[in-house]
Amino acid sequence: MEDKNKKEIVLSGIRSTGNLHLGNYYGALSKFVKIQDTHDCNFFIADLHALTTNPNPEELHANVKSILAEYLAAGIDPEKANIFIQSDIPEISEMYLLLNMHVGIGELMRTASFKDKARKALGIGNAEGETDEEIEKQIIGAETNKRVNAGLLTYPTLMAVDILIQKATKVPVGKDQLQHLELTRRFARRFNSFYNVDYFPEPTDFDFGGAPIKVPGLDGSGKMGKSEGNCIYLVDDPKILRKKVMRAVTDEGPQAPNSPMSEPVQNLFTLLELTSTPDVVKHFRDAYADCSIRYGDLKKQLAEDILAVTTPIRDRVNEIMADEDYLRRVVSRGAERARERAAATLADVRRIMGIRKF
Ligand code: TRP
Repeated sequence: MEDKNKKEIVLSGIRSTGNLHLGNYYGALSKFVKIQDTHDCNFFIADLHALTTNPNPEELHANVKSILAEYLAAGIDPEKANIFIQSDIPEISEMYLLLNMHVGIGELMRTASFKDKARKALGIGNAEGETDEEIEKQIIGAETNKRVNAGLLTYPTLMAVDILIQKATKVPVGKDQLQHLELTRRFARRFNSFYNVDYFPEPTDFDFGGAPIKVPGLDGSGKMGKSEGNCIYLVDDPKILRKKVMRAVTDEGPQAPNSPMSEPVQNLFTLLELTSTPDVVKHFRDAYADCSIRYGDLKKQLAEDILAVTTPIRDRVNEIMADEDYLRRVVSRGAERARERAAATLADVRRIMGIRKF
């Protein structure tokens, strides 16, 4: 702990909107586990961000609890990494208000994630070749009883605060979050130059080296994602998991030796490469090449190999979920540690902005 200050501060959050899937595991969790010893790691559950989509209160809390258990079950160790819940840090909400004074509504409206989510919330279709201005007009002027809340617009401010309040410099995120990280850097620079201070460091994406891992879904195209309905969840019951894999999209099979693979089949091989041993992968690759492959056999093997990864995690999730005392201990210690840094940053920010006590 003494040398903690020297370690690079890493921070990442996940919105509490459902169970974690295999994509979260390979894309994030398993990597987080590897850097716990070498970095000052901070992993949190972004329940305030989850509020932007107005979840029902029972569901919100249940999701926070299950994600917390899944983090721990996947191997994030609260003795090494700091694990906390965003809403346990009131300093975040206060700094969110302050930072918003330096954020333009135009730049927020042009954020890709906002345009996407706002359009979805309003049920506006995504027409080809529409300009930003046209989309903005549609969002503002939509004649509908649905609304886009201001929290959704200011989502990037809140995310920037999560990062800046902890003075994190390395932020492991997926591709879809890089624009938010870019905005965070912009806000940090803007704050520094407006007040003529050298206060906030500019955070960058965490480079794990190698090509980014893309975990495909089971529906033949694209990556695994909550909203795509193509997920294998870490806590999926074995029966359900097997059924999902057996139903995965394939094709009619190779028609000639050494033919190229269609995307759905390639996706199954990608999943196999993540979860199986090299000799199993080779066996099926060879079978594909000489046209003797039976996708049913491949899927059976894949389901068992995925289960070998998820079963121990699922068992631990169940144990941890039953131990409310343990969960409470983890998050209250996590909050304490996160608040220390957050309070120090907030005090500085207030002072820099001219909010001073009499
Ligand atoms: N927006 C991120 C996502 O949806 C979650 C998040 C919130 C986050 N605050 C963060 C990620 C701070 C990294 C750092 O995935």
